[in-house]
Amino acid sequence: MSDPILTARGLTKRYSHRTAIAELDLTVGRGETWAVFGRNGAGKSTLIRLLSGLSVPTDGLVRIAGADPRRPGVRRRIGVVGHSTYLLGDLTAEENLLCWCNLYGLDRPKDRVGDWLGRVGLEDYRNERTSVLSRGQAQRLTLARALVPEPEILLLDEPFTGLDLSGAALLREEIGKGGRTTIFATHDVEAGLALADHVLALKAGRDVHSGESGTIGAREVAERL
Ligand SMILES: Nc1ncnc2c1ncn2[C@@H]1O[C@H](COP(=O)(O)OP(=O)(O)OP(=O)(O)O)[C@@H](O)[C@H]1O
Ligand SMILES: [Mg+2]
Repeated sequence: MSDPILTARGLTKRYSHRTAIAELDLTVGRGETWAVFGRNGAGKSTLIRLLSGLSVPTDGLVRIAGADPRRPGVRRRIGVVGHSTYLLGDLTAEENLLCWCNLYGLDRPKDRVGDWLGRVGLEDYRNERTSVLSRGQAQRLTLARALVPEPEILLLDEPFTGLDLSGAALLREEIGKGGRTTIFATHDVEAGLALADHVLALKAGRDVHSGESGTIGAREVAERL
């Protein structure tokens, strides 16, 4: 691989007596799309959190373009969609996105936010408190929040949750757009294989298969999990 943008070496996360991620090595090239598979509790969310710098490894390291993902300059290059939406319920849809723009010191915040609310189909909810949004609407807004800084890397934990057909189509369009690198966790092995060019299968925190998606079928993945 010519140009890895994300690497993990010996990545390990332990929670008291439980090991959520064990000695994981990963090399992700610029522009690649990876699907991460695994049963409930296999370590997918833990991995996404470690790669995005939201969780600190017990051992090993993560590097994004050679730097620690927890460094402020690196964080803004990564768009994250987690298990939960983490929207501020008392703020409006627009205010939620503006907070993010301010955090990252983005220029033209109002224009960017207006643009993204339109792209995710929430322009009518601009002035609505996010506590009233439906699950799928909240997921659309969470996606907009991740994308508003136009990150080079997207780290997504079950990002299709709650999305309808047009929401899912929008997300598929954003994955890999303009050479973007994306890693997403999903339980939908067939859809994941179709969307990704690489796969990582986790079992009890360990890599039980990784490589190009064309080298393995859905049944074979499922058998390894
Ligand atoms: N904060 C925590 N404290 C203690 N244990 C944790 C914590 N977070 C995760 N774990 C444990 O780590 C393991 C991996 O959890 P993780 O959430 O990464 O799994 P997952 O693959 O995302 O599962 P799911 O498909 O259910 O979302 C589980 O055994 C879980 O109980
Ligand atoms: Mg999870």
